[in-house]
Amino acid sequence: MKNDVIHVNPELLFRWNKAIPRYTSYPTAPQFHPIESEVFQEKISSFDKSVKPLSLYVHIPFCKTMCLFCGCSVVLNRKPERQSLYLEYLFKEIEQVARSFSSRRDVSQLHFGGGTPTSLTEDQFEKLMAHFDKHFHLLANAEISIEIDPRTFYADKGGKLALLKKLGFNRVSFGVQDLDPIVQEAVRRRQSEEMTVSTYYKARELGFDGINIDLIYGLPHQTVERFVKTADRLVELRLDRIAFYSYAKVPWIKEHQKAIPDATLPSTYEKFQIYSEARARFMEGGYTAIGMDHFSLASDTLATAYLNKTLTRNFQGYSIALAEDMIGFGVSSIGFLENSYFQNAKDLTLYQEQLKIGNLPVMRGYVLNEDDIRRREAILSIMCHFQIDKLKYGHLADVSPLVAEGLLEEEVDRYVATPLGRLFIRLVASSFDAYLGKGQFSKVV
Ligand SMILES: C[S@@+](CC[C@H](N)C(=O)[O-])C[C@H]1O[C@@H](n2cnc3c(N)ncnc32)[C@H](O)[C@@H]1O
Ligand code: SF4
Repeated sequence: MKNDVIHVNPELLFRWNKAIPRYTSYPTAPQFHPIESEVFQEKISSFDKSVKPLSLYVHIPFCKTMCLFCGCSVVLNRKPERQSLYLEYLFKEIEQVARSFSSRRDVSQLHFGGGTPTSLTEDQFEKLMAHFDKHFHLLANAEISIEIDPRTFYADKGGKLALLKKLGFNRVSFGVQDLDPIVQEAVRRRQSEEMTVSTYYKARELGFDGINIDLIYGLPHQTVERFVKTADRLVELRLDRIAFYSYAKVPWIKEHQKAIPDATLPSTYEKFQIYSEARARFMEGGYTAIGMDHFSLASDTLATAYLNKTLTRNFQGYSIALAEDMIGFGVSSIGFLENSYFQNAKDLTLYQEQLKIGNLPVMRGYVLNEDDIRRREAILSIMCHFQIDKLKYGHLADVSPLVAEGLLEEEVDRYVATPLGRLFIRLVASSFDAYLGKGQFSKVV
């Protein structure tokens, strides 16, 4: 299957490797502007008239140590009381939002992200889930998922993992990034292979239906030779899904990334080769390439969603589309309700202060206009299905340069991304972005 390794002429690679959004939203976050929480209330009232289910996201920002590559919204913390106080405010927020609806709304997806949601204690997990149960109606077949740091699960021999299963969580994703100790040392994330593998087997034993793993390419000291060892070992485990992210280098936002010396990072060409070789290993191991950066076994719901064209993309990356409207809880979280984005205060103190005085902590947002809605649909179609309907969206962008360069192929009624175009799908999507150039982003590779 060596032919699955895609080779790109270095000159084209440099030309295509632009700083472009990952399109987890459209318009992207730099377009959000200060918004009154009343706008959010109005959208809740309008949504209230429908019977659509909701998707919920809850952000737990705390991490005990900072991984040098991290681009997430994190609060470095070792004080348990700080986390307990945060939960009190989170409960308040959940209650206040739920009270705005006239009935207990159906929820088809609940996702815990971070930071490190598994920094919550067993008691905190129980209380938080009871709180969601009290204020929302979690559907029997709801997807309840969480991002797990295996380092927080190792010491108790799987006790917390068993509790999550009991509480109804059915999908878990483990942060791993790379199994190589040299890379781990360089990013200050020490996580032995034993920690990762034993947590994985414990999750299998407990019967979780969906087990994912997060990997990153482009980290310091990664080479093709060493990274394929990580890829081969993980393929052996038969994870349901592998998220394979390009290292998003954004030191102007995440100061700690500056502690990674540039000289230790693979060059753009090497980074692309690491991606391409690992991709070949995943595909040879029976995984299907989904969207931009996911690989999944045919039995996984993401693969089914991809085949059925129900795959979608939100702030957590690729997802199965169970509910279009999402409410975000917790500091910095982003929701999407009635064609509008809403973001909570990014600062922990501000988030808590707003709730203390009885306000919802929504600070920024964006109400999409008709043109934004069409472009958002077009970008979702490209990012998720690698194609675009000519009649519906063709007039929104001139894609002829992409066709000429071999990234898109023109068919009678649509444009379809070529295998090469799929690797640069952010670039293809960006031609439909009316705000391109407004905001600083990480590079495609
Ligand atoms: C919130 S973390 C996962 C949970 C937990 N904090 C952990 O690290 O195990 C979400 C994922 O985002 C990815 N990530 C974080 N920073 C990134 C960056 N700068 N570029 C690409 N991916 C990144 C990592 O793969 C990480 O596992
Ligand atoms: S990668 Fe995960 S554990 Fe590391 S700092 Fe980021 S959120 Fe925390």
